[in-house]
Amino acid sequence: MNAVNAVVRTIINSLREARRVVVLTGAGVSAESGVPTFRDKQTGLWEHFDAAQLATPSAFQRDPALVWGWYEWRRATVLAAQPNAGHRALAAMADHVPQFTLITQNVDDLHERAGSPHVLHLHGELARPYCEACRRSYVFPIRAPKLPPGGARIEPPCCEVCGARIRPGVVWFGEALPELTWLAAREAAKQCDVFLCCGTSALVQPAASLTHVAIDGGAVTVQVNPNPTDLDTSVTAAIRGTSGTVLPQLVAETWGVK
Ligand code: OAD
Repeated sequence: MNAVNAVVRTIINSLREARRVVVLTGAGVSAESGVPTFRDKQTGLWEHFDAAQLATPSAFQRDPALVWGWYEWRRATVLAAQPNAGHRALAAMADHVPQFTLITQNVDDLHERAGSPHVLHLHGELARPYCEACRRSYVFPIRAPKLPPGGARIEPPCCEVCGARIRPGVVWFGEALPELTWLAAREAAKQCDVFLCCGTSALVQPAASLTHVAIDGGAVTVQVNPNPTDLDTSVTAAIRGTSGTVLPQLVAETWGVK
């Protein structure tokens, strides 16, 4: 790590001694895989839409083809993407810590593809749509959607059992988080020795509150982000850098592995 300072030394020592480590990731961790974050300007068909406005129950009710098309475009982007060095570093970190919990706000599967099992997906998963009436899971056709580069409007499919509309398997603004996943995440944050939040703007609740739960529980807290956030002054250390650069360095410095 460049200019290893006293704070970074503290983090490294805390990680080496930690029994419980929790990592919370956000869209920034997938940015280096080519998956746009929520605060990036949208492109193509979605250029004039704010991502937060498309991720709501009312947007889906108003224009299902627009919202389903947007999620299919995101799913196609993720299918074409590969995990990056940040995802791989977090998968490696799990091997060095007695109890490691990975919590993500991301709806992609790049952590899993990097080798992290049992990821707590607070905001659901693109790959798990379900019927909005009977909640039965919908299985996507094996072939990935063929879409124009800018995306397209697509009518959502219908449930094979009840005929109602299939909806994306994500948590929208205004919806509750999956209860057991949330309870597990909160409990892990409460009890951990070290808490890392990586690639998140820390703007969306209740996910953002997890860092404060860890702080209140006495954990060493570390933020990894190239940009400032509201957490800068609350965490033990705010490391300015991308997760694809900082996380592999942190793992290498802490446990001497590449
Ligand atoms: P955001 O898009 O709000 O924030 C992404 C963060 O990643 C920003 O703070 C960037 O500075 C940072 N970032 C960008 N590139 C990075 C990199 N290479 N390495 C590390 N950090 C980088 O994404 P989230 O915080 O995940 O919710 O957003 C939280 C939730 O708001 C999302 O899950 C979604 C969204 O609207 C729902 O859809 C319910």
